[in-house]
Amino acid sequence: MTILHSREKLTLANELIYEIKVKDAMTREVIFFSEETTFREIQLAMKKNRISGVPILDEKKNIIGIVSIDNVITALDQNYVNDKVKDYMTKEVVTIPQNYSLVSAIKKFEEYKFGRLPVTENVHSQKIVGILTMGDILNRLLLNIQTIAEHVEKKEDRNFQISEELLKQAQQKPLRFEVKKADFDNAGRVASIIRNYLQKLNIDKQILRRISIVCYEAEMNISIHSLGGYISVQIEKNNIIITAVDYGPGIPDIEEAMKPGFTTASEQIRALGFGAGMGLPNIKKCADYLELESSMETGTILKAIIHLGG
Ligand SMILES: Nc1ncnc2c1ncn2[C@@H]1O[C@H](COP(=O)(O)OP(=O)(O)O)[C@@H](O)[C@H]1O
Ligand SMILES: [Mg+2]
Repeated sequence: MTILHSREKLTLANELIYEIKVKDAMTREVIFFSEETTFREIQLAMKKNRISGVPILDEKKNIIGIVSIDNVITALDQNYVNDKVKDYMTKEVVTIPQNYSLVSAIKKFEEYKFGRLPVTENVHSQKIVGILTMGDILNRLLLNIQTIAEHVEKKEDRNFQISEELLKQAQQKPLRFEVKKADFDNAGRVASIIRNYLQKLNIDKQILRRISIVCYEAEMNISIHSLGGYISVQIEKNNIIITAVDYGPGIPDIEEAMKPGFTTASEQIRALGFGAGMGLPNIKKCADYLELESSMETGTILKAIIHLGG
C-alpha cells in the first residue's frame, strides 16, 4: 500500500492517520459466520460478497476465529470443504479496538500482512463492532483530504474578493494616471503605482501579476506610440477594469498590431529596450476580456477586464 511506503512524502496523510479513529474508517456491516458453518458455505459467501476473509463469532458476537480465502483453498485441496470450520479456523485472531487510531491499525497490517482486522468494542472485549481493511483506511483518508481541500478552495475564493469597506474607499477615489509621451525615464511608473495600490487590497498574487503586465504594456504603448494619454483603474467586487486612453494618432490596423512581433517602434526606441512587438499579445494573454478601439482622428482606447474570481 502506498501509505506504508512513502510516509515521508505524505505528511498530511501522516497527520490524519493519527487523528482518525478506527471506528471512523471501519465498515460496520460485518459479514460473519458461526463455527457451525461449512467451508463451502463460506466460500460461496466470499464469492458473492467479494471478500477474502470472514470472522467467526459466537452468539454474543464475540470473535472466536477467522477464516481466510487461504483456509478455504486448503479445505478444497484436502477434501474437507463440506466440514464445519470449527476445527480448522484460525483461532488466534488479531483484532483492534475501535477507539485506536488508524496508525496502530496500519502497524498491525504491516506486521501481520492480513487483509482485514476485526474491530472490537474496546480493548477488554472480544465483541466485534466492525471490520477494517486498508481499502477502508484509504477511503477515509481520501474523504478527509477532499474536505480539507474544499476548505482551502473556499478560503482562497474569499481572499479573491475585496472587502466591502476597501471597495467603497476605492470607488470613492477613482484611479487615473497621466502618461506622458516618450517619458522613458519614468517607464513603468504608472504600472507600479497601480500595483502598489492593489496590493493593499489583498488581491491574489497571480492576478496582481497579470494586472501589472496589462498596465505596464498599456502605459508603454501610450508613451511610445502616442501623443500621451492616461490610464484609469476601476475596481469592482469581482473585476478590475483597466482603461488606457490616448490622444492619437491611432492604430491603422488593429488586427496587424495584435500579431506577436509586430512593431512600428523606431530603431532608437528598440535600442532603449522597448518595442519587441509583444505588448498587445501579452495584454491579450493576461486579460480575461480585451477591447481595443482606435480612430485616426481621436486616438486609441484599450479596455481590459481581469476577473478576481480566479
Ligand atoms: N496606443 C497606441 N497608439 C498607436 N499605436 C499603437 C498603440 N499601441 C500599439 N500600437 C501599435 O501596435 C504595435 C504593436 O504594439 P505592441 O504589441 O505593444 O508592440 P510594441 O509596443 O513593442 O511595438 C505598435 O508597434 C504600434 O504600431
Ligand atoms: Mg508595446
